[in-house]
Amino acid sequence: MKIAVLPGDGIGPEIVAQAVKVLDVLKKDGMQIELEAAPIGGAGFDAAGDPLPEATLELARAADAVLLGAVGGPQYDRLPREKRPERGLLRIRKELNLFANLRPALLYPELAAASTLKPEVVSGLDIMIVRELTGDVYFGQPRGIEVRHGERVGFNTMLYAESEVRRVAHVAFGIAMKRGRKLCSVEKANVLECSELWKEVVIEVAQEYPEVELSHMYVDNAAMQLVRNPKQFDVIVTGNIFGDILSDEASMLSGSIGMLPSASLDQNDKGMYEPIHGSAPDIAGRDLANPLATILSVAMMYRYTFADMATADRIENAVKKVIAQGDRTGDIWTEGCRKVSCSRMGDAVVAAM
Ligand code: NAD
Ligand code: IPM
Ligand code: MN
Repeated sequence: MKIAVLPGDGIGPEIVAQAVKVLDVLKKDGMQIELEAAPIGGAGFDAAGDPLPEATLELARAADAVLLGAVGGPQYDRLPREKRPERGLLRIRKELNLFANLRPALLYPELAAASTLKPEVVSGLDIMIVRELTGDVYFGQPRGIEVRHGERVGFNTMLYAESEVRRVAHVAFGIAMKRGRKLCSVEKANVLECSELWKEVVIEVAQEYPEVELSHMYVDNAAMQLVRNPKQFDVIVTGNIFGDILSDEASMLSGSIGMLPSASLDQNDKGMYEPIHGSAPDIAGRDLANPLATILSVAMMYRYTFADMATADRIENAVKKVIAQGDRTGDIWTEGCRKVSCSRMGDAVVAAM
C-alpha cells in the first residue's frame, strides 16, 4: 500500500507525525506500507509557489490513499485567493473526485465530561455525517468580488447538479443500511432552489432503499437539534457548506474537535483521510494538539480504502484504551486525568497497540 503523506501547516506536521508512528507499528508487524511525504497548503506555497504543487497532486493520484494533516495559517491569508492554502485543499478534493466526506461523531464514554453538553445528552452518541465535498457554493460559478453601481459586491453560486446529489445520496443510504437505517437529509429547501432540488433527488434515490427511514430537516433546525437531542440522528446527509458547519458543531458532542476524523471518498472508495479540524495556529509548534482525530483517520483509511477491518479495529481499540487509562491532551483534559502532549499521546497509542 502506498500512502501519500501531506502534513500541511500549523499543527499538521505534529499530528501527522503521531499517525505515522501508528503506521510504523503496522509496518514493523509485517504490513506492506510505503509512505511518501509532500507539501500542501502553505507549505506547498513556500516550497513551490503553489498550495497544491503538481508533484504533490501526482503523488496523491499514484498513491492508494492520502493522509492529510491540515492547511492554513494567518501568514497566508493575504495571498491572492488561488495561492491560499485552503485552495490547495479544495483542489486536491476536486482533482481526486472525493465527493463523499464521512465525518463520524462518536463519544468515547470516558470523554462525556469533556463535552460542553450534559453527559446524559451526549452519552452513547454515534452519528455519521455524510458531507458532499466537491460541489455547492464552494465550487459554483460565477463567483467573485466586483464593482456594481459604484460599490463592491461579493458573490458565490450555490449549485448542485442532480447527478452530484444522487451519488452522495447513494453513499449515505448505503452507510445507513449498515448502521441504524435512519437517514436525515439536511437542507434549506424552504428558501433555496438548490436545496429544493437536493431534497427531490434524495427522495428519488430513497425508492431504492425502502428499508431506510428517510427524514428531512432544515439546516437551522438541524443545528439546534444537534445540541438539543443529538441521539435522534443516525446518518445525516447534507451539502458541502452545511456539512462543514454542522460537523464542527457535532465535534463538540464528542468532547473536542480534536477527536473527529474523516474520510473523503471517490466512486471507488479511494480516499483522503484527515481530521476535520484546521491547522490550529493558536497552539501550533508547541506539542499541544490532540492527534487522535488524525490517528482515527488512519483507522478509517484501513476500514474504507483498504477494507482491512481488523487493522481499523486494532487502531480504534488502542485509542479507546488510551482514553480509558486517562491520558488526555489539553482539549479533552478534565479533573483527575493525566495531561499529555501531542507526541506522548502518539506514544501511548503505539504502546496500546
Ligand atoms: P481550527 O480547527 O484550526 O481551530 C479551531 C479551534 O480548535 C482552535 O482553538 C484550535 O486550537 C482548536 N483545535 C483544532 N484542532 C485541535 C486539535 N487537534 N487539538 C486541540 N485543539 C484543536 O479552525 P480555525 O481556527 O477556524 O482555522 C485555522 C486555520 O485552519 C485557517 O487557516 C483555516 O482555513 C484552516 N482550516 C483548515 C482545515 C483543513 O485543513 N481541513 C479545516 C479547518 C480550518
Ligand atoms: C474543512 C475545512 C475546509 C472546508 C477549508 C479549510 C477549505 O474547514 O475541511 O472542514 O471548508 O472544507
Ligand atoms: Mn471545516
